[in-house]
Amino acid sequence: VRALRPDDHAVVIRVVDAWWGGRPMADLLPRLFFTHFTTTSFAIEDGAGELAGFLCGFCSPARRDEAYVHFVGVDPRWRGAGLGRTLYDAFFALAADDGRDAVRAVTSPVNTGSRAFHRALGFVEEAIAPDYDGPGKDRVLLVRRL
Ligand SMILES: CC(C)(COP(=O)(O)OP(=O)(O)OC[C@H]1O[C@@H](n2cnc3c(N)ncnc32)[C@H](O)[C@@H]1OP(=O)(O)O)[C@@H](O)C(=O)NCCC(=O)NCCS
Repeated sequence: VRALRPDDHAVVIRVVDAWWGGRPMADLLPRLFFTHFTTTSFAIEDGAGELAGFLCGFCSPARRDEAYVHFVGVDPRWRGAGLGRTLYDAFFALAADDGRDAVRAVTSPVNTGSRAFHRALGFVEEAIAPDYDGPGKDRVLLVRRL
């Protein structure tokens, strides 16, 4: 696991729609996440130095007890090998070191794989919020106590 870098942006936006099963996701990952959040975001590489997974997160500036994960993704070829858990473990440690006692994330109700993954990591589904991200954009609100 290493820190996310600005040059990861081009790699991620090239693969991210495919990693999400063809859903258009790239617009949700503007370059700002790869420039302003590099101290709280992680990448993981395969043996050839290719990006195998990434996590974009930050310690909330407004909610001093909380940290937030915006995105986590693992190359389909590497799924089920613990990379997602490894990325989250790095983030949990960082958030706890910064005095945070909870990590929040949201996901789509239809993303059953993401929901199961987050449950396996100790997240609780607090609610399914209708129109959370705009009309028709319902979201599952997830929290993991540290
Ligand atoms: C969700 C995702 C990040 C999981 O990454 P991963 O590296 O395969 O996950 P891990 O191997 O670390 O799995 C950790 C735990 O979650 C469980 N898990 C992971 N994916 C799962 C799935 N699709 N269904 C059920 N459980 C799952 C694993 O069984 C494991 O549980 P265990 O440790 O108790 O055995 C990956 O599937 C992915 O990139 N999906 C597409 C993008 C996405 O939906 N991201 C999340 C929303 S932002």
